[in-house]
Amino acid sequence: MKTRITELLNIEYPILCGGMFRVGRAPLVAAVAEAGGIGFITSAHYETPEDLREDIRLAKRLTKKPIGVNLIVSPRKKLPNDEFIEVLLDEGIRIVETAGDNPGKYMKVLKDNDVTVIHKVPAVRYAKTAERLGADAVIIIGTEAGGHPGMDVGGLVLIPQTVDSVNIPVIAGGGIADGRGMAAALSLGAEGVLMASRFMATQESLLHENVKQWMVGASELDTFLIQRTIGSTTRVAKNEVSQKVLELESRGATVEELLPLIKGERAIEVFTNGNLDAGVWSCGSSVGLIHDVPTVKEVIEQIIDDAKSTLSRMNIIMG
Ligand SMILES: Cc1cc2nc3c(=O)[nH]c(=O)nc-3n(C[C@H](O)[C@H](O)[C@H](O)COP(=O)(O)O)c2cc1C
Repeated sequence: MKTRITELLNIEYPILCGGMFRVGRAPLVAAVAEAGGIGFITSAHYETPEDLREDIRLAKRLTKKPIGVNLIVSPRKKLPNDEFIEVLLDEGIRIVETAGDNPGKYMKVLKDNDVTVIHKVPAVRYAKTAERLGADAVIIIGTEAGGHPGMDVGGLVLIPQTVDSVNIPVIAGGGIADGRGMAAALSLGAEGVLMASRFMATQESLLHENVKQWMVGASELDTFLIQRTIGSTTRVAKNEVSQKVLELESRGATVEELLPLIKGERAIEVFTNGNLDAGVWSCGSSVGLIHDVPTVKEVIEQIIDDAKSTLSRMNIIMG
């Protein structure tokens, strides 16, 4: 396959595995690279920059193909991003996915070191800002996405609008989990797709088996948006805690009241020990399209095959 994204990132297929707190670690990222896509080691979950270094090194032992690092650039998170950047540059990483806020503060150091910056945004106006700041590509995230989709608009509208609004290549994310989704995104003008939830339910993701099996059994109605009222909209799996959060929000709860329920340590308990009701954890509505736990290679091969047959079907329909 050839798009500006395969050329820019030097990869076989324009398929990205988005950064995932606690999930985007060496074995998964290396498996995506080996299968022809690219994944991002997610800096936010490493306690120290040296822990990040160790995982980058592990990924580099597992694959010689390009890998990236995800940086959450939101000042609210108080992450040691300057040190993370030093480490990733030191380790030869030259592809970074930024997300969470305006990446301007980090642009100079990244561009001065020839890093390809792909910025992830939930709205068209932020895509324009990313282009103006010098991002090499932009990921537009629809409301279907796990993590922080931000707004209420779906990919069907956001993808073509973004394609029409910027000149840099656009990658589509949110709600894509199979070849039909990829074919649709490419048809709308995207030059690549980003998936995260689909890669959670793979053999290489280091999630507890209970989480993967929940995903296999879940429907598209088993996720919803919480934290809207505190300006940090997040799509999460439906469970006891997320329902409680929604109820508290409807009663006007403050951040301080919500924090004990939404803190990251609780998600770690879910992901590591498989206690599904221990906390809120991100999951996209594409979970309704996930019915198995294959290897990453199987996921990517199936997506490419299905995207090709979907596009052939379109050719037949269009005559
Ligand atoms: C469990 C989980 C954790 C995530 N953590 C991050 C993160 O740390 N940084 C980030 O940029 N995006 C994060 N995201 C968002 C994904 O990278 C991606 O934008 C989104 O999930 C794509 O939608 P999909 O899940 O429908 O494929 C996370 C998503 C999930 C499901």
